Amino acid sequence: MDDKFYVSYNTVHKLVKNLAAKILGSGFDPDVIVAIGSGGFIPARIIKTFINRPIYAVGISYYGVDKKHRDHPTKIQWIDEVADQLRGKNVLLIDEVDDTRATLAYCVGELLSYKPQEIAVLVLHNKLKKKDVEFPPEIRRYYPALEIEDKWIKYPWDAEDIDEHTELERRMLEETGEVRI
Ligand code: G4P
Ligand code: MG
Repeated sequence: MDDKFYVSYNTVHKLVKNLAAKILGSGFDPDVIVAIGSGGFIPARIIKTFINRPIYAVGISYYGVDKKHRDHPTKIQWIDEVADQLRGKNVLLIDEVDDTRATLAYCVGELLSYKPQEIAVLVLHNKLKKKDVEFPPEIRRYYPALEIEDKWIKYPWDAEDIDEHTELERRMLEETGEVRI
């Protein structure tokens, strides 16, 4: 078995459900959900099942179409037309992974310029590693559903054969003795 970290759709759903409980339990009452595309789209839709708020989508990429790293995160699509909607609001920002933190921190910085009440950051996975960038002090609620070592995560939406992908997660959990959530 390879050294990748496989995550099935069922696991994604349960991780998001846990995040919803954590954020509500912290006393945060979100007005809007902002999804960072593309990895944050599916988690955002799932969280809406537990916290029913409007979803705004932003697209930011650290890679060009040729998969080469850009110098800095770049907006692919942005929410200029709804910037006013974030003023004074509690924003729940969601993405799939906190890796170098570069994309996430850039997005947080841009959203803060719209003067929201507060931004809470939720991710499915935080990789335990030295981050390239830190969050600004305005971020007081940061919730990763799972903290993992620095491995490449295989998300279900990238799978070409979803049955094989789900089976690989099952085998990985069996081999590592990790408990399925
Ligand atoms: P971060 O702020 O969330 O840490 O993101 P970072 O800039 O470090 O990551 C650059 C891109 O690499 C992001 O994709 C991120 O989702 C992706 N990435 C990082 N680690 C993993 C991993 O272990 N597995 C997978 N599948 N992707 C990973 P992006 O440019 O935002 O594109 P998209 O895939 O979200 O569309
Ligand atoms: Mg992403």
